[in-house]
Parts: sequence; C-alpha cells; structure tokens
Amino acid sequence: MKHFTCVQDIGDLNVALKEAFEVKKTPFRWDTLGKNKTMLLIFFDSSLRTRLSTQKAALNLGMNAIVLDVNQGAWKLETERGVIMDGDKPEHILEAIPVMGCYCDVIGVRSFARFESKDADYREVILNQFIQHSGKPVVSMEAATRHPLQSFADLITIEEYKKTARPRVVLTWAPHPRALPQAVPNSFAEWMNAAGYDFVITHPAGYELDPTFVGSATVEYDQRKAFAGADFIYAKNWAAYAGDGYGKILSKDRAWTVDAEKMALTNNAYFMHCLPVRRNMIVTDDVIESPQSLVIPEAANRVVSAQTVIKRILEN
Ligand code: CP
Repeated sequence: MKHFTCVQDIGDLNVALKEAFEVKKTPFRWDTLGKNKTMLLIFFDSSLRTRLSTQKAALNLGMNAIVLDVNQGAWKLETERGVIMDGDKPEHILEAIPVMGCYCDVIGVRSFARFESKDADYREVILNQFIQHSGKPVVSMEAATRHPLQSFADLITIEEYKKTARPRVVLTWAPHPRALPQAVPNSFAEWMNAAGYDFVITHPAGYELDPTFVGSATVEYDQRKAFAGADFIYAKNWAAYAGDGYGKILSKDRAWTVDAEKMALTNNAYFMHCLPVRRNMIVTDDVIESPQSLVIPEAANRVVSAQTVIKRILEN
C-alpha cells in the first residue's frame, strides 16, 4: 500500500481484518519495523482520537512521531495557485508540503470539508496536494469526503461483536447544532457496502448522500422502520449534500435522536458513534451509557486500524 485514503487502498477486507486482529493481539510484534523512521501528523482541524491513536500506532511500530497543528504556531497557508500573496498568509502550501515531506517517512493529514465549494471538497484538493507534492506515503486522518481510519476501526468493531455472518447495520442521521461534513457517513457506507452487510441508511428527506457512497445500501426515510431488526445502530450527523443545500443544516429535529424507545425496536442492537458525540442531540445518556454501547471499544480500535495501515506502508 502506497497511500491510504479509501476502502480500495486496503485491498481484500478479510485479509485486512485478519491482519488487524493479529495487530490487536500482539501490538508490539513489529516494534522495530519503524526504527529510525518518522511519522508526521498534520492537523488542519481539531482531533482527540485520531491524534492520540495514530501517534500510539506509530510508536507501537517503533517510529518517531511529530505532530503539527497547522493553525497553532505554523505559518498561515495559502492553498490556491495564482493568488497574489499580499494578505495574511505568508506561506504557500505548495512549498510547505514538500518541506514537510523532507522531515518524515510517512505523513498523516487531517483536513475537513470547508463547505465553500462542493467541487473542491469532493475533489479532495488538500489531500491530493499532499499525495502529489510530499513525495511520501500519505494516510488520510479524515479528509473532506472520507474518514477511512475510522471506518476500518468500525468494521473491526462490528466483526468483533456481530452474532450473525451478515448483520443488519443501520446508519442513522441524528440532529446536531452545527453543519458537519459527510466524511464519516460516506466512508462508513463505503466500508459497509464493501463488507457486504445488510446495510440500511436512514435520514430525513434532503439529507441524501452522494450516490457513489450510498451504493447498494437500502435508503429508508422512516427511522423507526429502519431500526426494526437492526443488529448495529451507527448514529451520525451530516449536513446536506444534494443540490444548493450543500453544507447546510436543514433540520435539528430531535425526533431523530437515538433513544431507548427506538433502540427497543432493534434486535437488541449495539450502539455505535465515532465520537465526539453531542449527548441528548445525537443519542440520549441512557443509550450511550448502556451495556450495548460500543463507543469506547470502537475508539480503542482506532489504534488497531492505524497500526495495521502504517505497518503495511512500512512493509512496502
Ligand atoms: N472519531 C474521530 O476521528 O475523533 P477525533 O475527531 O477526536 O479525532
């Protein structure tokens, strides 16, 4: 694997899962693989889990890890070519990226959708500039349209807890006070479709995701119907994708909050969320604190997904 940005980059999911469970069982077996190698983690946006788990994964492999918050202490970066740089951005990303590449062996990048241009977001302008100009393998730590390290961890978690070969997995939209990117739901859909689960997406009208990511999923606008018989409920908010509504909040309807009454419609489903989560907007206290809540094991598996991916890159 050269770069890791989407489900296709990991290849056969059964092979990847087998490897991930080996990593989970014996995390220090490859602790010399990354000797004298440096992992650089670049954050254009905030993080708790991705920052810590990816750093921990690199350390488990014997790498050095350097973290840079671009917005805290680095020069403000211009990202457009052709701009006369007489404003508040003293450095261009087209110099900054190759410079960063000089200081490391693998680069992780987090850069969310900006919601200024759907076209620019869905072309993954920042991530692709790193791939083009860093000269180093690039790992997406959540880009504008996908969050593959999260989705890989989600898949690992579902495989650990599933009680049937092909569980019914439901991705449900839930309300949130701010406009959030589609990266997590897009990516989750991509990985669930690739896994071949019985996969359902439920959301209010207007929140349709890019059909490329929806793929063969069943779309059900009635949340209660969608929950019936579910083995896993994966909650997430996202802003509108379709048409002129791109990046907008169309609803904050708390009738879509995941609560105990809706969970009772399921097949005693597990509750999942990538975190951070807004309690009593996305999910009620009692559901997230229930024995069926997998949010902590899911977050713990972020080390496993990151370590499996970085290990493969180093072995390449
Ligand atoms: N789930 C996730 O990526 O968490 P952070 O935004 O805290 O990294």
